[in-house]
Amino acid sequence: MCGIVGIVGRAEVAHRLVEGLKRLEYRGYDSAGIAILRENGVNAQIERRRAAGKIANLEAAVAAEPPRGRVGIGHTRWATHGAPTVSNAHPHATDRVAIVHNGIIENYRELKDELIAKGRRFESETDTEVVAQMLTDYLDQGMSAEDAMAHTMPRLVGAFAFAVLFADRSDILVCARRSSPLAIGYGEGEMYLGSDAQALAAMTKRISYLEEGDWAVLARDRAAIHDASGAAVERPIRTTELSGALVGKGNYRHYMEKEIHEQPEVVGYTVMGTIDANARAVKLPKLPFDPAQLSRLTLVACGTAFHAALIAKYWIEQLARLPVEVDIASEFRYRAAAMPKGGAAVFVSQSGETLDTLAALRYCRSQDQRILSVVNVPESTIARESDLVLRTLAGPEIGVASTKAFTTQLVVLASLAIDLARARGTIDRAREMALVDALTHVPSHIAAVLQSRARFKALSHKLAEARDVLYLGRGTSYPIALEGALKLKELSYIHAEGYAAGEMKHGPIALIDEDVPVIVIAPPDELFEKTASNIQEVIARGGRVVMFSDAKGIERFGGTGIDAIATPAVDPFVAPIVYAVPVQLLAYHTADVKGTDVDQPRNLAKSVTVE
Ligand code: F6R
Repeated sequence: MCGIVGIVGRAEVAHRLVEGLKRLEYRGYDSAGIAILRENGVNAQIERRRAAGKIANLEAAVAAEPPRGRVGIGHTRWATHGAPTVSNAHPHATDRVAIVHNGIIENYRELKDELIAKGRRFESETDTEVVAQMLTDYLDQGMSAEDAMAHTMPRLVGAFAFAVLFADRSDILVCARRSSPLAIGYGEGEMYLGSDAQALAAMTKRISYLEEGDWAVLARDRAAIHDASGAAVERPIRTTELSGALVGKGNYRHYMEKEIHEQPEVVGYTVMGTIDANARAVKLPKLPFDPAQLSRLTLVACGTAFHAALIAKYWIEQLARLPVEVDIASEFRYRAAAMPKGGAAVFVSQSGETLDTLAALRYCRSQDQRILSVVNVPESTIARESDLVLRTLAGPEIGVASTKAFTTQLVVLASLAIDLARARGTIDRAREMALVDALTHVPSHIAAVLQSRARFKALSHKLAEARDVLYLGRGTSYPIALEGALKLKELSYIHAEGYAAGEMKHGPIALIDEDVPVIVIAPPDELFEKTASNIQEVIARGGRVVMFSDAKGIERFGGTGIDAIATPAVDPFVAPIVYAVPVQLLAYHTADVKGTDVDQPRNLAKSVTVE
């Protein structure tokens, strides 16, 4: 969601800025632009190229009239204030400054009124432009770039990161961060700036991260970093693990398809990272709290990661007999949750940058909770602000819809549940070995589901005609029903709802007719007979049922009048990890049949850094 790049270079930068933006495409955006300082004696001139839609449009604008210069900034914008048009695209500029911005300036209306009253004229509907105008106002009063920054920053309310070019300072760019992440890259006689290390990985591997409230002046040979009080500070330089090569699609048509098929491998890596296969035991790092002393564990996340947390609730309560509270981050952060003294909270996030999840983490920190996170991007803000990070080894996930991140989150959370149960003495060694064995087999079960993908593809042709779809499940299959519905609606734009199967009679049964397909996630576990009864209730009302179960479950159901797709026989403990894949395949193929933009569904962003 919105991406920033910046270069103070020795050579021309236009092309490299556009390449940096391409590396940020995965975050989701709907317009893009660059601004470059064209050197011209003492004063440089700000030149901008901006385009609505894909970066290819910006590339065409740059190729038609290449802006020349060695200092520049670039941006991918995900619209918040104002439509995704060229005039709202960043950078926003006056004749003295150009600025790119991530996040939201919450008090922009009053600042805009104040600046308009002073005679400043605005060109866009964005909140960002007030920063350009305010900086210019201070420069016009005779302040230096640094002083203008120091005066502007405290006037802004909200969460943001920005980068600024000054026309009369062709040797620097200035950046600032409050909540939204920013990374500085160190090159050979060049300095770089990016929303994350991914944007910079092709230019340098030496990265430092700005901390909350920091602002910095980048020159070719140095970065002068200041904290919120204006004091000069040093931030450690780390070597990033990210590869400079752009992540490709290989032989697949979409990133999402590739990422679904990578699951046997990355789930395998993640299992190997959390267990000792020889000892048939879980091996996690020492937790930053004593599980035996906990009275409750809080799990917080958004979207698909929230579904992973919901499944973890079942696992942890059943195995470790520890009460678990699960909440959506955007709700949790504002409800002044009462936290137990000496408690702990777990945050689940692929990107590690989701603003609501980060805010919830900071709330728990303020309540003296120990912080554990399950994160895919190890250099992310959530990872850096945690007492312990349990990494998912999914690798870069480019498709906006979470797939391999979800299944690897489940592996880590399943391992955590076993670890907690062992520490609390609620499972014996034999049970731990059985659970670990079940986890070890997950990659091959997923591979078997992928082998039968033709069946999901065939089903997707029917599903693509539906207007509404219901997903049902019980126990750990209930969050998979929620996830199936989320995947289908976000990818194919078909309305879908996930329900606990037992809840159907309390309302959604009114929707059932021959036009509403009902997908039932029904592994043959101890709740199977209950789910089977709910299926009969749907059939009795003329509903069209598709059941996902294994051969034993399909035989146990025995009924006719349903479509059943057989999945491999799995231990019920790991069923949600394996059954996640059929719902992904179904949503992927349905979206493909409908011809939607599978990797970048409309209105969605990969990294949600606004609330
Ligand atoms: C759905 C999806 C989103 C994310 C959510 C949280 O397919 O990908 O619902 O799960 O935006 O993102 P992270 O995990 O980066 O915190």
